[in-house]
Amino acid sequence: MPKPYFRHLFIGFLLIKGLISLDVQAQSSQIPIETKSKALVLEYDSTKTLRMLYYGEKLSNIKEYSTISKGYKQMTDYSGLSNAAYTPSGSKNLLEPAISVIHADGNRSLDLRYVKHEVKSIDPNSNQLDITLKDPVYDIYVVLHYKSFLSEDMIEQWTTIQNKEKKSISLEKFASANLTLKSNAYWLRQYHGDWAREMQVEEAPLTHGIKVLDSKLGTRANLFQPPSFMVSLGEKASEDEGTVLMASLAYSGNFKIDLEVDYLNNLRIIAGINNYASTVTLQSNQDFITPKLIYTLSTEGKGKASRNLHDWARKYKLLDGNGERLTLLNNWEATYFDFNEQKLKGLLQDTKKLGVDLFLLDDGWFGNKYPRNSDHSSLGDWEPNRQKLPNGITTLVEEATKQDVKFGIWVEPEMVSPKSELYEKHPDWVVKQPQREEHYFRNQLVLDLANPKVQDFVFQVLDDLFTKNPALAYIKWDCNAVIYNAHSAFLKDQGAFYISYVQGLYNVLERIRAKYPKVPMMLCSGGGGRVDYAALQYFTEFWPSDNTDPLERVFMQYEYSYFFPAISTSNHVTDWGKQPLKYRTDVAMMGKLGFDIVVSHLNDKDLLFCQNAVKTYDSFKDIVWHGQQYRLADPRVGDYASIMYVDDQKSEAVIFNYLVNNRYGAGSTDPVRLQGLDPQKRYQVQEINLYPEISSTLENSQIYSGDYLMKIGVNPDLNNKRTSVLLKISAQ
Ligand code: DGJ
Repeated sequence: MPKPYFRHLFIGFLLIKGLISLDVQAQSSQIPIETKSKALVLEYDSTKTLRMLYYGEKLSNIKEYSTISKGYKQMTDYSGLSNAAYTPSGSKNLLEPAISVIHADGNRSLDLRYVKHEVKSIDPNSNQLDITLKDPVYDIYVVLHYKSFLSEDMIEQWTTIQNKEKKSISLEKFASANLTLKSNAYWLRQYHGDWAREMQVEEAPLTHGIKVLDSKLGTRANLFQPPSFMVSLGEKASEDEGTVLMASLAYSGNFKIDLEVDYLNNLRIIAGINNYASTVTLQSNQDFITPKLIYTLSTEGKGKASRNLHDWARKYKLLDGNGERLTLLNNWEATYFDFNEQKLKGLLQDTKKLGVDLFLLDDGWFGNKYPRNSDHSSLGDWEPNRQKLPNGITTLVEEATKQDVKFGIWVEPEMVSPKSELYEKHPDWVVKQPQREEHYFRNQLVLDLANPKVQDFVFQVLDDLFTKNPALAYIKWDCNAVIYNAHSAFLKDQGAFYISYVQGLYNVLERIRAKYPKVPMMLCSGGGGRVDYAALQYFTEFWPSDNTDPLERVFMQYEYSYFFPAISTSNHVTDWGKQPLKYRTDVAMMGKLGFDIVVSHLNDKDLLFCQNAVKTYDSFKDIVWHGQQYRLADPRVGDYASIMYVDDQKSEAVIFNYLVNNRYGAGSTDPVRLQGLDPQKRYQVQEINLYPEISSTLENSQIYSGDYLMKIGVNPDLNNKRTSVLLKISAQ
């Protein structure tokens, strides 16, 4: 056997050469899933019960995984299922199940035993392991899928449930993944929020019993809680030290994540679609495929876990993750609903003047019988409003082309206003209870995407826009309402509603991407109400929050950055907050830069600053979008935040530093230690993005070794006069 480091490549080589069979009947009872430095090991015994044995550092000798369980002297596992790889219910199980079934004959028991496994090499960096389990009594199969990404130490896990019984069965629980971790303590870092308060963090030890993270909102599912979390094992992990599992469920609807510290002190994590008001009916010979739980384990702290996720996301998940993004001027906060063609033409000129790539026309451009002049009407009537835009969108797109800027547009195609022609024509397309009063969220209702005709309609809205305006270069896809009164006039089985809705949404997005594979689209949901890796396969970026107060954003973007790479984060400079324009711009630069301000109201210096900022951003955006991220100073711990991005060659870096405390004397008293540089290289540290006529207090000509910068560091000199400082590090 070759050295362990190259083992996966070797196995991949053998698979490709056909030297070993794809359908490997297990030689031993361990099934290790190895990535570059980690291993998740499954094991089955003579009873063919499949269990999760280990998740941690990869061992040099693959045979030694079989010894691991001997080191544990825990109390009795009465059922032998406490660490089952996928816990069935109703047979021997005593803890929270991953799956609950009602068979065709009404029986509610399930037992799952190992049948076979096979490994497929997807490409030199990824393998897929499929393990088939079967109930010895009933014809139910469960296939556990583990797709491993070697150099990123990432795993995507999901499950296929197959009904081979003669009649239909019901699934009452149908998790994506069931993990068991062993440690003496577990620290959960979780998030909660509301509109404009997304990604509020809490970190606390998990105690015995079940902690549930979930959503029941249907659409805009993240509004109160996102499906992203992390768990430190043993000590609370820091940025650079400690063992931490970072995970996110790739699903855009109701989710449920059970974190159970059981009586044996193991942590059982069962994650998947929420079974709240949802039963899956599986016809004979029908399969149910769950969404994916995405996770990575780092033994070098949270920073490494994030970098794994970022690398994986850019390479495999986020649409055009390694590509480019457009800077833009958005008119939402500049005009709200109050605009017309002339005003927009002026904004197109401002877009050019500012130097950004694109103008994004927001809400308010549509509706004729009911013009969209407020958020009380018109959603669903996607015809340009003839009073505001007598020549339609086409003229504006043409005008943009003349001005040498691109044009993008806002839509909210899943929604309908009660006051709309669409509602009048198709009341049966609306999610509502037939005999109950309607409840509105932002004065609107949700369209029933479980209905294929509604899916066609939503696809058509986008397709028409592109067909009529081939130069349309960008879409902002909004979603401002949650689902009340969950009921579909189309579905016979209301238990299928929530899941069918999300499937309907994905069907539409699939069709859009099949026809328009490249057009950048922003995933927006009244702020950050929908941010997950299933949706991000179709979107190039997301809108983290309507709250663009830069002080709030420092904290929010910091938390989002654990799970999502900067290239996916749309940040706009707006008039929110009390910080100076430079601070607002510096914060928005830490991701994908946009503006939502009235350019014509800027004084000469502010305008010059913004114009220069766009050029400065263009000079380093590649590092932020494609480089490695290091969080150097946590705004929750000290007076400031410091976040660094380094290019792959370790020759250029940008460091964003923001003061978050205005108490007397607050500032950067000590140097900030940098990371990710080459100790052998020599670097110049230069302050960039200065406001006109303001000089840096730093000595820009000084050259430091990478060794010095990573061991001693550099002080950005943050204080109440210099609240935001951007540093560029360049190898000499
Ligand atoms: C909510 C979004 O988050 C905003 O950016 C804006 O597009 C409004 N909707 C428009 O109604």
